[in-house]
Amino acid sequence: MQGKADPLFDMLGRVVVIAGGAGGLGAPMARALCERGARVVVADIDARRAQEVASHLVAHGGEAHGVPLDVTDPASCASAIDVALQHWGRCDGLINASGIYRVGPALELADTEWQRTIDVNVTGAFRLARAAGRLMTRQRDGSIVTLASVSSIVANPNYAAYAASKAAVAHLTRVLAVEWAALGVRVNAIGPAVTPTPLAAPILEDEKTRAGALARIPMGRLGTPEDLLAAAIFLMSPGSAFMTGQMLYVDGGRSIS
Ligand SMILES: NC(=O)c1ccc[n+]([C@@H]2O[C@H](COP(=O)([O-])OP(=O)(O)OC[C@H]3O[C@@H](n4cnc5c(N)ncnc54)[C@H](O)[C@@H]3O)[C@@H](O)[C@H]2O)c1
Repeated sequence: MQGKADPLFDMLGRVVVIAGGAGGLGAPMARALCERGARVVVADIDARRAQEVASHLVAHGGEAHGVPLDVTDPASCASAIDVALQHWGRCDGLINASGIYRVGPALELADTEWQRTIDVNVTGAFRLARAAGRLMTRQRDGSIVTLASVSSIVANPNYAAYAASKAAVAHLTRVLAVEWAALGVRVNAIGPAVTPTPLAAPILEDEKTRAGALARIPMGRLGTPEDLLAAAIFLMSPGSAFMTGQMLYVDGGRSIS
C-alpha cells in the first residue's frame, strides 16, 4: 500500500485561531498546524511577537495573520475570532494557549494575584470559547481546545490560584462540551506537565524545584513543546470527530503518579 495524505488528520484549508500564539506552546502549535495546510490567526497580548510568529509562517509559505488579543477583554476575544471570519469566511478551530502562572504560599497570596489568575486563565478561556462558540454553533462545526494542566487534577503546594484556575478550565471544557455537542462543536482540553517555556521558567530556573518537578514525572524527563503537537493536531482534525469533553494528558505519566 502506498503512503498518502491521511484524511484522519487532514488540516488543509482549516481555519484555526491560536490564542497565546506568541507563547512557548502556542507558537509551535501555530507552526505545526500551518505546516499541515491550516490557515491560522496568531493572537496574543504580545502583539509584536504575534506578528513576528505570523510573518515567519507566511515567509515559509503558510497562511497566517498576527493580531493583538487580550483575553481579559470580551471585545478583543470577539475581534480575534472575527479576523478569521473576515479573512477566510469561517473559524474551524480555536486553541487557547494563553495563560499566566503565579505561585506562592496561600497564606501570602494577594487577592489581586488570585483575581488576575482567574481572570486570564478561566474567564479568558470562557470569553474566547464563547466568542468562537457563537460562530461555530452557527456553522454547526468547530473544535475548541483549551490548555489545562496536570494542575487541573494534582495538588501541588503553593498552587492555590493556578491549580484552581486549571481545575476550573477542565470543568468548563466539560460543560461547554455537553452544551454544544448537539450543535456540532467539540470542546476538549490538553493537560501538559511542566514544559520548558517562558511560563515555566520560575520552576525550571531553580535547581531544587526543577529536580522536584522532574522526580514526579514517571517517564523521567520534562515535556517539550513538540510533545504536545500531535495532541493539538488530533483534536483539531477529523480523526477526533466523536470526541468531546475530554482531557488529553500529555505528561509522561505525571497525572497518574
Ligand atoms: N509550560 C508549562 O509547563 C505548562 C504546563 C501546563 C499547562 N500550561 C498551560 O499552557 C498554556 C500556554 O503556556 P506556555 O507555557 O506556552 O506559556 P507562555 O508564557 O510561553 O505563553 C503564554 C502566552 O499567553 C500570552 N498571554 C498572557 N496573558 C494574556 C492575555 N491577557 N491575553 C492574551 N494573551 C495572553 C502571553 O503573552 C504568552 O505569549 C497556559 O495556559 C499554561 O497554563 C503550561
